[in-house]
Amino acid sequence: MNYFNQTKCNQEEIANAQKILKSTSIIDVTHFFAQDFIENLIQETVNVYEQKLQRKDFLMERTDNTPRNMFSVSERAIDACATMIPKFYYDEEVLHFFSTLAQEQVMALPWTGERYVINGLSRSNDTHGWHWDDYAYALVFIAKAPKLGNGGEVECIPDTFWNREKPNIEQILQQNQKQKHHFESGSFYLMKSDTTLHRVAPITEGEIRIAIAISFCNKADLSKDLDHQTVYELYGV
Ligand SMILES: [Fe+2]
Repeated sequence: MNYFNQTKCNQEEIANAQKILKSTSIIDVTHFFAQDFIENLIQETVNVYEQKLQRKDFLMERTDNTPRNMFSVSERAIDACATMIPKFYYDEEVLHFFSTLAQEQVMALPWTGERYVINGLSRSNDTHGWHWDDYAYALVFIAKAPKLGNGGEVECIPDTFWNREKPNIEQILQQNQKQKHHFESGSFYLMKSDTTLHRVAPITEGEIRIAIAISFCNKADLSKDLDHQTVYELYGV
């Protein structure tokens, strides 16, 4: 499968994306991808989600009890019935592309469980509450998005750090301005997600949001001692 829209993968567009990622920690990368790949990926994502979804409703202690009211699909469940998602994840050209955007080497995770997962919000007020990710980069694909103004936006505060003993999320929220981004169905964004506090805002009744969260690590991640606790709780790996 041809993943990329070659006409957009030029030096000028890439330099622009590098600059935005560096300054805001989040960049919409949808235009770099081929339309037929996006359409096929929407189909596979929705199909896997509908087969494997599990309901999660709890407060995540490790992130100051921020809420998780959502559905999730684990990496293992995705592997059991998806073909495109794992293939895309390990593709050399894809890893090279995101290394170029990040201006450092990004790699597949050394740990099974968090490489790719699917999250879904579909009940009134469903939300994936404030948190940081374990690994350096998140590439998120939005297969289904709520209409503009109906919640499900990505809210984030870059250049913040997860003190796992004392996250202090409330204080960080009070002291910093939030970025708010709406992404349409079929969008991809890349985020520096281990140093960006982020959440998916609650959705309104009747809306649905389905997303694949793909994690890539950098070299520094390889020497970190991570316990993956939040992933165990949310995806049950
Ligand atoms: Fe995240």
